[in-house]
Amino acid sequence: MTRHHRRRVRRPLSLALLLLAVTALVAPTSATAAALPYQDPTLPVATRVADLLSRMTLDEKIGQMTQAERGSVTNADLTTYRLGSILSGGGSAPSPNTATGWADMYDGFQRAALATPLAIPMIYGVDAVHGHNNVYGATIFPHNIGLGATRDPALVQQIGQAVAEEVSGTGIDWDFAPCLCVARNDRWGRTYESFGETPDIPSSMTTFVTGLQGATLGGPTSVLATAKHYLGDGGTTGGDDQGDTALSEADLRAIHLPPFQAAIQRSVGSVMISYSSWNGVKLHGNAYLINTLLKGELGFTGFVVSDWNGIDQIDGASGFTAAEVTAAINAGIDMVMVPTAWKTFVSTLRAEVQNGHVALSRIDDANRRILTKKFELGLFERPYTDRSLTPTVGDAAHRALARQAVRESQVLLKNSGGVLPLARDNNKIFVAGKNADNIGNQSGGWTISWQGSSGNITPGTSVLQGIRAAVGPTSTVTYNQRGTGIDASYRAAIAVVGETPYAEGQGDRTGSMSLDRDDLRTISTLRKAGVPVIVVLASGRPLDVAAELPNWNALLASWLPGTEGAGVADVLFGGYAPTGKLPMTWMNSVSQQPINAGDGQVPLFPQGYGLTW
Ligand code: GLC
Repeated sequence: MTRHHRRRVRRPLSLALLLLAVTALVAPTSATAAALPYQDPTLPVATRVADLLSRMTLDEKIGQMTQAERGSVTNADLTTYRLGSILSGGGSAPSPNTATGWADMYDGFQRAALATPLAIPMIYGVDAVHGHNNVYGATIFPHNIGLGATRDPALVQQIGQAVAEEVSGTGIDWDFAPCLCVARNDRWGRTYESFGETPDIPSSMTTFVTGLQGATLGGPTSVLATAKHYLGDGGTTGGDDQGDTALSEADLRAIHLPPFQAAIQRSVGSVMISYSSWNGVKLHGNAYLINTLLKGELGFTGFVVSDWNGIDQIDGASGFTAAEVTAAINAGIDMVMVPTAWKTFVSTLRAEVQNGHVALSRIDDANRRILTKKFELGLFERPYTDRSLTPTVGDAAHRALARQAVRESQVLLKNSGGVLPLARDNNKIFVAGKNADNIGNQSGGWTISWQGSSGNITPGTSVLQGIRAAVGPTSTVTYNQRGTGIDASYRAAIAVVGETPYAEGQGDRTGSMSLDRDDLRTISTLRKAGVPVIVVLASGRPLDVAAELPNWNALLASWLPGTEGAGVADVLFGGYAPTGKLPMTWMNSVSQQPINAGDGQVPLFPQGYGLTW
């Protein structure tokens, strides 16, 4: 890259250079007197922002609006291009993938950011969507669909606080969560990222924002939250991920907007734009919904970030053009997640400003929003990892909280003859199913890798391990994934079945939503032994089970519980009476999709349904 001649504005050259030389040499930390107003934490944030902005070149301002992926940028790049933000895409981790490894990586990038003339700290974003899920050994909480089933906003706030501690312990200061999508079609691959199919449940769960950020930004574990994906991501036709939401404005506002209003009332610091379209217009270029509605009518004062290469989709062709950059920025996007082509983005935006297509006032507005959050987070005073928090990653207290969340998320849908709860003592239990002893399957997508994966992918307790720990010494538990070996001597059989991990569009189900053949075969094997069969469904959404349900003695919707599978056993063996309520209507047939509360269709189980004892 050729070094660009920078135009300084508003200060005589000699004074500016002198000030800068002093700053660069003695960029003060909290331990030394502040050399310049923006470095003085005793001044109001707005004053600090104004002072800093007045010192910034166009390139420095464009750098603040650029977010690159960690794998596509070196420390030197960060310094040279004045980049304002780094992200880890799903599963993008340092080696070793440990909490300390993450903290060391973060601090390395931050040192590079502070080596710039104005020493503006970078902000690092990750998808900690059900715990700090990229980090090996972190606590993995139930995905949002299970948290919606708890109907417990206070619990979700505690989870936000716990996630903030683990995220802060690795240096990271920005979480692309919570997803406040209102999932209207269970075919959608991101249904499990939704707290519920009606806006009241996601709105109530914006307590996660307060848990993550604190009552105000800047506390020792304060992490910037992100309300996503604005707007209507869960309302696409056919549940097509990144598809088109065909709704009147009144219905768009009624169904999809309330959770964002609730998050803004909780001072959410950022909003991420949806890949989807509204009536054929891509959200990433929608000035009415971003500028007029979000920033104007709703008064959102944080900053707006694009989704991963989201601006590329505005014109429907691959890659981004100058016109798309201009459309996105002028629509109100303040920071662009441009994971790899960030150099092209920087040069394109610079040219679009210099040719007048993007006003400098828009660039300044975006910078004010971004810098305000960086100041409020305390990044200028405390730019590096607080290592005292690193041991919280995966600690016992967080796992206990996750186990409680698993308990409260279980929804009991059938319990013929009161077969549940099972006796802990003097019992003989057979356990089967592909999801019985599989941390990866019970955690789902966004776990260690973007798509998640089956297997023993991170420390935790499988459902089977939870069952073994729940029974007393006079009971036996036998496990065989396919059910081989069961006979009439067993008192009950538990089949833990459902889905294997997926994320985003790769989880869209356009055909059958039934159990797969292996699961059906396993359950059939258990039934033939003539013992009561309890089905535990570990899935990211309701499945089409009406035809098989009469043959099951009990059905427990377990959703995607995460690492603390013992919480499922707590319900099965009576340690916790089930309190979960369906966050989504449960179809009677896949032909009913989309099926939602109040749409006049007759479901197998309505939203809000859940048994107890
Ligand atoms: C993904 C998702 C978004 C996530 C972002 C960064 O494609 O749509 O939810 O925050 O990219 O990983």
